[in-house]
This record gives sequence, C-alpha cells and structure tokens, in this order.
Amino acid sequence: MNHADNPFLGQGLASTTLHPLGLEVEGGDGPWILLKGGGKLFDGISGIGVSNFGHGHPAIADSLHAQMDQNLHTMVYGEFIQDVQRQAAASLQASLPSHLDSVYFVNSGAEAVDVALKLAKRLTGRTKLMGVEGGYHGNTHGALSVSSNETRKAPFRPLLPEVSFLKWNDMADLAHIDANTAAVIVETVQGDAGIRIPNRAWLQALANTCRANGAMFVLDEIQCGMGRTGTTWAFSQFDVVPDILCMGKALGGGMPVGAVATCTHRMSQLAHSPSLGHITTFGGHPLACAGVRGAFKALAQVDMNQVETRCQAWQDALAAHRAVHQVRRLGAFIAVELANVDHVSRAVMSGLKPAQEGKTGVLMFWFLSVPHAFRLAPPLTATDEEMEKGLALVLEALDSVK
Ligand SMILES: Cc1ncc(COP(=O)(O)O)c(C=O)c1O
Repeated sequence: MNHADNPFLGQGLASTTLHPLGLEVEGGDGPWILLKGGGKLFDGISGIGVSNFGHGHPAIADSLHAQMDQNLHTMVYGEFIQDVQRQAAASLQASLPSHLDSVYFVNSGAEAVDVALKLAKRLTGRTKLMGVEGGYHGNTHGALSVSSNETRKAPFRPLLPEVSFLKWNDMADLAHIDANTAAVIVETVQGDAGIRIPNRAWLQALANTCRANGAMFVLDEIQCGMGRTGTTWAFSQFDVVPDILCMGKALGGGMPVGAVATCTHRMSQLAHSPSLGHITTFGGHPLACAGVRGAFKALAQVDMNQVETRCQAWQDALAAHRAVHQVRRLGAFIAVELANVDHVSRAVMSGLKPAQEGKTGVLMFWFLSVPHAFRLAPPLTATDEEMEKGLALVLEALDSVK
C-alpha cells in the first residue's frame, strides 16, 4: 500500500486510520478551530469532550503561563510536591462529595481507568471485574478489557481475565455481581454507545448491589464530566456516588490529564504492600495540574441554565430536521441518529467541506460503536450568537442528506 498521500504515515507520523481527515490546524479561538488556508470550523464536538471551555480560554491560558514560568518537571510523581498539584486537587475536591477527598492525577483517561481497576483489586483482594454493555473506557490493555466493543478487542486478546459485562439498564442482570467481584465500572452517561442515559433506578440499584457485595462501584466520567451533561459531574443528577471516580478529557482544560478520586483511606493502599502501587513519571505534571486549576476557573464562569436553553434549542431544531430519526441529549452531550452510516458520513463530510474551501464549516463526528448516529458536544462557553451559527452550520450539513 502506498502511504505517500497519508498526511501522517507519509510524513513519518503514526496514523490511526488509513483515511484521516488531515485538516491542517493553525489555531483556535473560543468555539472556533482555525485552519491553515483561512477556513474555520465550529467545534461541534469540543475535541471529543476535551475543549468544554472552548479554545484559548483566558483563565486556562493564564494558569498555564504562570506555571510555565515557574517550573515544568522535577521528579516522578509521589516524591516531591508542588503548590499547583495541591491547588488542582483543592479545586477538584470542592466539586466532589466529601468522601472523594483524595486524588491521583495521571496522564490520560485510560490510565485513570487502569488505576481504578488496580485499586479495586488491591482493596478487595478479588480479581473479577465487570463492565457494562456499550461501555468505552479507553485503549490500554486494562481499559480495553472492561470496554465492550468486541470488534475492537478481538485482535488484542488475551486481555485481562475474569472480565464480564452487565446488560445496560437491566435490573435482573445485577444478580451477576457477587462476593468475588472486585469492581463494576460504568460510564454515568455512556458516550461511545451513542449518549445513552441510564435509568435512575437501575444506576442506583447497581451502586447498592456493589456495596451489598463489597465490590467497588466505579464511575467513569472521563467524557461526561466537567459540566458536559449540565452539572459538574453527571452522577449528581442520578443520586448516586461512586466509591472510585475516573476523570479526564476536559479536566485539564486542554492539557493531557486523567484523575482518580476516592477516599484517603482507600487511596493510601497504593502506598504500601507493595509501595509504589501505581507509579507514573508524568503523573501530577505541573503544567497538567495548571490546566486543571484553570479549567475549574473556566467552569465556574459557565452559566449552566444558558447551556441548557441553548442545547434545548439545538435539540428541537435537530429533531425537526427531515433527515433526523432521533436526538438523545443530556445537557450539552448529544447524539443525532440518522437512517444509516452513509447518511452520517455525508452529513459529517458536508460539515467539513466549506472549511476545506477556506470558508466556515462545522466539526461533527462519528461514534466508534453506533454507525448510524453522530455526536455533538459544543463548547459550554459558546455565546448565543455562536451557538446559533453552529446550529445553522449543522442543519446545513444535514440538508446534504437526501
Ligand atoms: C468514557 C471514556 N472513558 C475513558 C476514555 C479514555 O480516555 P483517554 O483517551 O484519555 O485514554 C474515553 C475516551 O474517549 C472515554 O470516552
């Protein structure tokens, strides 16, 4: 195969697909991605749930600049301590229930998931792990093991042993959680499954069944957290609290960071028997923590009522479009179902086209596991005017679906 035309492989970079979009980025400004050649894109997906506060938010930029002038790296996480780590942890803890009073900053969402699984095994002395059908938790061997898309897992087996999956929203299936279960991990709102919102009673019963069996109830809010669903953490809308919480994506305000929160007593188990139960060179990196510090400042400025009003307007207009079969939404976390994958591809590519021609387009994107739907997750900081423009671009792209 000739890779010369691939903008990644052809230039000495790894590629994750043989047909990357390959748009050349110049910069970002609020909800806009600025392309080389003068085109711009409304960021309709916030970099898949990362740029919740848009591009170049002053609170995040200021926090990063201040830390850049002070220090970057000193030592593998867990020996030296820096103010910015304490400040990031304090901002995070102020947003969480009081029992989640200890945080481990790591490098990515998948690493946070791996830490949570390791911690659950260490805490319970058990080895059986459970995920939920439709769950996506990342691409390390551990995170992939508890994700449910078999097509994506099969080539990499063997993965972790003793992993099984609960049916989504199925009360009877909770009986599979037993005294050998170390943890059940579930996205509070499933992202890659097409923005699937759990039944409240089921999620509560899942949490209770874990507790009754001494298993850790692990919530993954890597994609649905940080204001995406209309509250800082989605679990607050379902009256459940996790034993262990995984975070990432928008947490760093655009910096690469993941985090695990639990209570201090539980977290302390990683410090002994063996010590260094999870070590990671760049964990708690000062610049990543400065991103977290800035992201919470940006989040505090978001008016969630306005986000709800704007996204309800998006939902109403999208649902009324002739090409749309269904819209699922919680806050600014949106799935738009069309008739089939061809319609999705046509809509997504039509959204991009004007920007490729030096004009204004919109970035929408596929789900890995739901081919007949596309995702929308606009920046929470977009103004009324920007959201109206973004919606007009999405509707225009949908008009291309015959
Ligand atoms: C719910 C969820 N968990 C975990 C991950 C993995 O995060 P990362 O890609 O930072 O490893 C993702 C990434 O899309 C995600 O959506």
